Amino acid sequence: MCVPRATTGRLNEGDLKLLSSYQVLARKWRPATFSDVKGQDHIIKTIKNSILNNRIASAYLFSGTRGVGKTSVARLLAKALCCQNLKDAEPCNQCRSCIEISKSASIDVQEIDGASNTGVDSVREIRENIMYQPVSEKYRIYIIDEVHMLSTSAFNALLKTLEEPPAHGVFIFATTEPAKIPQTIISRCQSFDFKKLTVEAIKDTIKDITTKEGITATDDALYTIAREARGSLRDSLSALDQVISYSGNNFTKDDVKAVLGFVDKTVIFEIAKSIITNDPRTALSLNKKLFDEGYDVKKVVDGLVEVFKNLVFMKNGLEDLLGDALPDHEVNELKQMSQNASPADVEQWFYMAHNAAEETVRSSYSWTMLDVCLLSMCAKPNNDSISDLISKLNSCEKEPSKEQTAEKKSPHPQYPNNQSGMKY
Ligand SMILES: Nc1ncnc2c1ncn2[C@@H]1O[C@H](COP(=O)(O)OP(=O)(O)O)[C@@H](O)[C@H]1O
Ligand SMILES: [Mg+2]
Ligand SMILES: [Zn+2]
Repeated sequence: MCVPRATTGRLNEGDLKLLSSYQVLARKWRPATFSDVKGQDHIIKTIKNSILNNRIASAYLFSGTRGVGKTSVARLLAKALCCQNLKDAEPCNQCRSCIEISKSASIDVQEIDGASNTGVDSVREIRENIMYQPVSEKYRIYIIDEVHMLSTSAFNALLKTLEEPPAHGVFIFATTEPAKIPQTIISRCQSFDFKKLTVEAIKDTIKDITTKEGITATDDALYTIAREARGSLRDSLSALDQVISYSGNNFTKDDVKAVLGFVDKTVIFEIAKSIITNDPRTALSLNKKLFDEGYDVKKVVDGLVEVFKNLVFMKNGLEDLLGDALPDHEVNELKQMSQNASPADVEQWFYMAHNAAEETVRSSYSWTMLDVCLLSMCAKPNNDSISDLISKLNSCEKEPSKEQTAEKKSPHPQYPNNQSGMKY
């Protein structure tokens, strides 16, 4: 979106109109019905059934990483419990109750941020209020977000209400860190674990949204956004907002790359290939190129760690555990590049990449540090398999003099696991 600037430096009426008419995609496309919620079918099915059978719990706990639908489903559940024209457990979004809850304007449905109301006093107030009969709905509902932030005494106060809840009271707790919630609370809630969304599910959703918004985007652009969101639909929509404000209603993968500032996988693959083929010249020149283009060094090392992690899995016959984040063409490329490497080799490279990630983050000379780490990785690993070693031993026994003389002649000491002899 392009917002014209007022000459006075303050926003003029036109600016304000433009600003107020623009709603971020995540808010605009918040699911209005249960069937709009993606990737949480197991949860939606259970919740809808409990509504249909009128088996409403007095406390629900929604856990899961950010941007996977916890708040959205909490609001939908609140609407479904209050809606006056409920159909097949779906809220109508048209009655007074639905409209008020959608606008966060209902007296009986309160949303509280656990992170900023951590103390026992806030919970005591909730405890007292939930006892009153609802004003205009059937239920009095408290949605408490980031509930793990409550203090111990606040949890204790909450526990008392959960033990003897009023018939009209419903708590919906949401958290990104369920491990921090006392077991006593958890055991009184009906718990739901929200899953991260798959790359495919995110891609399909943002494709649908771009179409409805009249935006044209290439498939690989949407795929890239979906993959970078790491399971969070909200993150993908925020990224989509950013890309649209940069490139307008038409964008490609290059626009996405420019906006999100991530390093193209193909460059990371090229570096990994040069490591595997012991080609330091290529590795270092690619690294310099990334530096010149202003990339974040952390993203480069993160990329390398991921590539070698994937290779470790693949070389150990565990590629099915890598999940759907790895498209077929990447699997093929990884397979090809590691054809002549042993499982022990890729494992060693993984540890070296991991080490490089740690060192570069700590160092004030992060790119130089990465250069040296890459140089070290480009040296051929010294990982003989046990059978190789046995056959070598056997040949040693047969011709001891040859190997021994070679060793004596070597001017450089060798590190046990790193032929380069370089320590970092
Ligand atoms: N499972 C989902 N299905 C559809 N949209 C989703 C889903 N998860 C997140 N979103 C989108 O992201 C926005 C934020 O989601 P939200 O429910 O607030 O996530 P959470 O509470 O888990 O952080 C929503 O308004 C919606 O646009
Ligand atoms: Mg939320
Ligand atoms: Zn309704």
